[in-house]
Amino acid sequence: MIREFRIPVPGIKRKTILHAGDFHLNCTDALSTDEERKQAAGSSAEWEDIRKEFALAAGEPYGEEQMRPPEEHFRRVLDEARGGCDALILTGDVFDSVTPANLRFFDSALSDAGFPLMTVCGNHEDRDAIPSGHAISPAAEPVQILRLGGLTAVGIDDSRREITAEQLDALSGLIGSENKILLVMHVPVMTDADRASGSADDYFFLDFDGCPVENLKFIDLIRRNAEKFAAVLTGHTHRHAVGAIAPGVTQYTVSQGIAGNLNRYIIGE
Ligand SMILES: [Fe+2]
Ligand SMILES: [Fe+2]
Repeated sequence: MIREFRIPVPGIKRKTILHAGDFHLNCTDALSTDEERKQAAGSSAEWEDIRKEFALAAGEPYGEEQMRPPEEHFRRVLDEARGGCDALILTGDVFDSVTPANLRFFDSALSDAGFPLMTVCGNHEDRDAIPSGHAISPAAEPVQILRLGGLTAVGIDDSRREITAEQLDALSGLIGSENKILLVMHVPVMTDADRASGSADDYFFLDFDGCPVENLKFIDLIRRNAEKFAAVLTGHTHRHAVGAIAPGVTQYTVSQGIAGNLNRYIIGE
């Protein structure tokens, strides 16, 4: 399901940004070992149950269309992106775990992408387990940067539900130097909409009871510089949500990557 949002930003030429995540791919291929196949089969079976539970809990559709293999859902999103966009943003948990076959699938699927891509790690993608040189490999820097003509996508790996002092410093610097920031991360900040939906379990949010003080400083930094942020894009909760994390800063959480679940933002004038 494609959900479209218009985000007016004066002074920025109109851009189309696509956003998806939480596909939880469990690929195998001709090079997979028997052990890898066994593990992928077990994880796939679990994921089929989990995605159904999430969809039903969120009141989102779950039928034949949604039950198709994760690879098909992922390819469908890539087809949309190839149809025209200024960037595709994937907010983590693209893989259910980092495996050689998942890395091969991702590299192959993105080999002729033809559009700018930003991915951040989810909690299912341990950044230390991803070798360098792959399309999904995280940047060595504390934040990832994708400049899109006046709009700067800033990727923050918050997949361990902790913001580091280095990430805080880097974001603070970018707030001073960039025109407008599109913040990209896996784990969202809790909004009133999240509280109202009943999904406000600590596991799903950055600002949980007892969270590192840097997490709160990070949220405060966004709040104090609200005018610098075009939007915040997240995943992880496996349910569609839109809510304010500060006056004028809207957080969009894309639903899990099934049946073409995809957010499209038209950002700019
Ligand atoms: Fe996920
Ligand atoms: Fe996650």
